[in-house]
Amino acid sequence: MRLPSANSPFTHIAVQELHPTFAAEVSGVDFSKPLSEEVFAEIHSAITKYGVLVFRDTALTDENHIDFARKFGELDDITPYLAFRKNRLKHNELFDVSNVELDGSVLDPESPRGQSNKGNGLFHVDSSFNPRRAGYSLLLSHELPPRGMGGATAFADTRTAFDELPADLKQELLSNDYIAAHSIYHSRKLASPEFFADLNPLEYPMGRHKLVQRHEPSDRMNLYVAAHVHHIEGLEPGRSQELVSRVFSHCTQDKYVTQVQWNNPGDLVVWDNTCVMHRSVGGAFLQHYRRDMRRATVHDSSPSAWGLNERTNVRQALP
Ligand code: OGA
Ligand code: MN
Repeated sequence: MRLPSANSPFTHIAVQELHPTFAAEVSGVDFSKPLSEEVFAEIHSAITKYGVLVFRDTALTDENHIDFARKFGELDDITPYLAFRKNRLKHNELFDVSNVELDGSVLDPESPRGQSNKGNGLFHVDSSFNPRRAGYSLLLSHELPPRGMGGATAFADTRTAFDELPADLKQELLSNDYIAAHSIYHSRKLASPEFFADLNPLEYPMGRHKLVQRHEPSDRMNLYVAAHVHHIEGLEPGRSQELVSRVFSHCTQDKYVTQVQWNNPGDLVVWDNTCVMHRSVGGAFLQHYRRDMRRATVHDSSPSAWGLNERTNVRQALP
């Protein structure tokens, strides 16, 4: 048992802040045995406060990873993706975010899945394009490129970005209460315009969510924005695009961003998609090395989970 430091609310875990406004590294959690309720309660309050938590060297297996994720809520699964490819992994609760092919070779970045993965390099939130959005994502590393060869993950603090909006923009957003339409096809096109030239996002369902919303767990306001945002409803296209890019560039300024380095297999990063954005940070040599990352994704359970969407199980997927 750790002694609480004078200004820390945590007694079972140790928390080291990674950025002045969000993100923290947590130590003192023993993942080799079931977590006590007290420990989990502190992890939950830490993710609520920090939005991103890094756990080093967890040694979690696929099964323990899934079990830990279930403590956060109901899990999403990859069944929509099975229409395009066979699951390399044993469990449908794990999203294969790797660059590894079924035969163990490194994915060709120019292949359809390689092109699709490029979208993860743009700041986004997970599954905002689906009827029920993602709450928490738990990304566990299994194999990493040699150090210095790339493959970090960056996060942006969209709650603080809301707090610090220029007054005119904050006023405009609050008084209009805009609805943003999110499409996975839009972000894929942005990242890989030539490959997806013939894809028209308007031909697919989009996820509709308020652009400005209260992050219920922390009771702070948040800008729920992402590279998936195709347009703002009710605005003429030019005006919509101008507003989306103004909000997006505001949120992704260096001062709101922190980068997490993956040091070892077993490192786990948990983030709350309803208060931070994230992106993968490539590397010139990444195409030569396997980067095996697996993600458990927890459905959001907050009142905003479904946004303004119809409550269906129809989810969007690409190779
Ligand atoms: C994800 C994701 C980024 C990365 O798992 O949802 O966007 O660095 N990952 O792998
Ligand atoms: Mn993601």
